[in-house]
Amino acid sequence: MKLLLVGGVVFLAISLILIKQSTKNNVCKTFEDYYTDRDRNENCYHNPDDELPVPEVIKRWGYPVETHHAITEDGYILTLFRIPYGQNSSSKQPGHPVLVQHGYKSNSKCFVSTGKKSLGFILADQGYDVWLGNFRGTTYSRNHTHLSDRDEQFWNYSFHEIGVYDIAAQVDYVNRFRNQKIIYIGFSLGTTTATIYSSTYPEIAENKVKIFIKLAPFIFTNGMSLFTLVGLKLWPYVGPIAQALTDGQYYTKSFSYTNEALWKFLCYPYPFQMKMCQILDMWSFGFNYEQIDPETLPVTLLHLIETSSVKTVTHLSQLMNSGRFQRFDYGTKENLKLYGSAEPPQYDLSKMRVPTYLIRANNDLTSTRESIERFNASLPEHVKPHDIYVINHEKFNHMDFVWAKDVVPLLYDHLIDFMSNLV
Ligand SMILES: *[C@@H]1O[C@H](CO)[C@@H](O)[C@H](O)[C@H]1NC(C)=O
Ligand SMILES: *[C@@H]1O[C@H](CO)[C@@H](O)[C@H](O)[C@H]1NC(C)=O
Ligand SMILES: *[C@@H]1O[C@H](CO)[C@@H](O)[C@H](O)[C@H]1NC(C)=O
Ligand SMILES: *[C@@H]1O[C@H](CO)[C@@H](O)[C@H](O)[C@H]1NC(C)=O
Repeated sequence: MKLLLVGGVVFLAISLILIKQSTKNNVCKTFEDYYTDRDRNENCYHNPDDELPVPEVIKRWGYPVETHHAITEDGYILTLFRIPYGQNSSSKQPGHPVLVQHGYKSNSKCFVSTGKKSLGFILADQGYDVWLGNFRGTTYSRNHTHLSDRDEQFWNYSFHEIGVYDIAAQVDYVNRFRNQKIIYIGFSLGTTTATIYSSTYPEIAENKVKIFIKLAPFIFTNGMSLFTLVGLKLWPYVGPIAQALTDGQYYTKSFSYTNEALWKFLCYPYPFQMKMCQILDMWSFGFNYEQIDPETLPVTLLHLIETSSVKTVTHLSQLMNSGRFQRFDYGTKENLKLYGSAEPPQYDLSKMRVPTYLIRANNDLTSTRESIERFNASLPEHVKPHDIYVINHEKFNHMDFVWAKDVVPLLYDHLIDFMSNLV
């Protein structure tokens, strides 16, 4: 604890000394360029994507964008951003619909925040009709038919509700809009929730979804990093305090704003600070400094501070403690009332009917090899992939699926290739 404190103070002091007047140019092509006078260096320029909302980013890169809303059965109004076609579409006719779903503490921005290398743009340029979903509680999905985001009840959800309500509503919306089975691509929690959806509503999913492509599937918690394990082990003690302090809104908006200013101050000025600020993330996602892109790092660095609910983390810690993929544990008495059993029921993976494709990375400490192979083995025969695709880079980590410097040759080229055989 003392060491942490001293470290923090030293870190703060160094930042204070080194911080210079903010420069106009916020990104540079190499890490070395960051140490030069950025406003005069030709390798540096201003990239506004960090601050712009998703539709503005999409427009800025020269793509068409539409905003749609899907209302969940329990009243959350979710925003979907659509890129109906790409830059080389002469017909401007939308191709096959693809719903792309982000992960935990994130939102759809992660699919458009690395310029030309963004999955959203690549899919659009390949002729897909791209729909970017946003979970409840995130910046773009905070409205509700009768609750305010200041109500405790608004934040009374975990990824179970995201799966059975948010995924259901968004899949349903796109499917109806296009009157066609959709391709679903999920990353991390976007795969957890898709799995909950498709095992809870197997028939509905079968009628609406052609395939679930799961990037870094997160279903079982086997093999997670010690850092995450310790965090989740402590959560039963921390969670109730967080609940009381925030009404269930994990990273309250006001908190995250002051937070953001502070983080920017601490993390932005120089590359060693940018790298240092990633240590906590890397402890849970896997260490890989090789795939950090200096040119997009300032845009993506603080992206993972989207709002979530305390209950989401509580549910995660329960999964880890039980080792099972199951519903929220309310305690024996409440479980009996809600589920008719003392233990929360497990999600019945054997009911799944939609084909699934799994992609994993070697150095992913969140979606680990062990956990994904266990998931693969739990899938019914007819939905199983022929095999799990493993990204050909030893250090590829969890966040590299969206931000790696070489994400296109390492992952997206294969993804596009795989998808072209589907439609
Ligand atoms: C569209 O352009 C991109 C890059 O400019 C290219 O990779 C892709 O194959 C093109 N897509 C189609 C459908 O022509
Ligand atoms: C919520 O609704 C208000 C009023 O209709 C609108 O101005 C706002 O943009 C909406 N927010 C989101 C996140 O959709
Ligand atoms: C949250 O929802 C559960 C079940 O859906 C309910 O039992 C509980 O009372 C709710 N809690 C709050 C704080 O609204
Ligand atoms: C995944 O499941 C398939 C089908 O049962 C099996 O052939 C394959 O070996 C499994 N892959 C791994 C890596 O466990």
